Amino acid sequence: MKAIKTIGVLTSGGDAPGMNAAIRAVVRTAAFHKLKCVAIFQGYQGLIDDVTRVMTPRSVNNIINKGGTMLKSARCLEFRTKEGRKKAFETIQKHEIDALVVIGGDGSFTGAMIFQKEFDLPVIGIPGTIDNDIYGTSHTLGYDTALNTVTEAIDKIRDTASSHNRLFFVEVMGRDAGHIALNAGIGSGAEEILIPEENMGLDRLLESLKRSEKSGKSSSIVVIAEGDKTGKNVFEIASYVEKNLPYYEVRVSVLGHMQRGGAPSCFDRVLASRMGVYAIETLLEGKSNLMVGIKDDNMILTQLDKAIKGKSKINKELIRVSDILTI
Ligand code: F6P
Repeated sequence: MKAIKTIGVLTSGGDAPGMNAAIRAVVRTAAFHKLKCVAIFQGYQGLIDDVTRVMTPRSVNNIINKGGTMLKSARCLEFRTKEGRKKAFETIQKHEIDALVVIGGDGSFTGAMIFQKEFDLPVIGIPGTIDNDIYGTSHTLGYDTALNTVTEAIDKIRDTASSHNRLFFVEVMGRDAGHIALNAGIGSGAEEILIPEENMGLDRLLESLKRSEKSGKSSSIVVIAEGDKTGKNVFEIASYVEKNLPYYEVRVSVLGHMQRGGAPSCFDRVLASRMGVYAIETLLEGKSNLMVGIKDDNMILTQLDKAIKGKSKINKELIRVSDILTI
């Protein structure tokens, strides 16, 4: 592998709190090691269209505390084509970029892997997605912040639910992963939690809500992940329950994209900082095609293809804990 003098960095896919802190860490670690750093704006689209800027340590002042990504992000269809990737590589050549750091989720890593194979460009991934659905790290950037955001939102819903004796169905993000639903559900004392990984079934939900009512609970909260396994959306589930348990006054709240915004938690800022440093130092060791991650508070590396294909499993103990505590 040829010596690395210039690093490119981009954010891609859904943004996540902590991405800015990771950009800062990449830019400053590159400068620390006397490397040039070129930022690519708007994800892979910016690589295709050559929307770039040379970064110095001062370019990333005052962003560690900001949500979103200063580099902007996109899900880029053109990069899925060979022609798109060819154009992107022309930008790489033009700026003499020797290695690329991609901050994003599994879709972004799939693009990075194909690009690396086609053009033999060293790449390192930093996992950034609120969904925490990437194998090879116990935490992705933004996940901890999203959990806190969701918990705070449900706490507020609880206030009004309890004042009006209502049953609330709260939809949280997670097309394919129930990490947010499960953890924020337990953290906010939800009655039931529906997730994509396990079909809890609507009958079980009805039984549980009947039990709650009988045991004297006057209000309840059910947390539902976007992609939950029943295959029904939050409104369909709510009206099913309303029909079967008419004594409940039902309301639905979809938290939506507010879950992706906001200042990153301290945990996410520290994680992003560690991952950024480790990403650059891994590249400097001559390694490529890897994702940095954290396990038991240690930085680890995982092959990009494993990070994409491997499943980040939910912790089934959490289901049991939730079941016990909603008695
Ligand atoms: O990948 C993170 C995520 O927030 C998912 O949980 C959600 O389904 C999706 O992004 C929403 O994507 P978009 O912002 O493109 O609507």
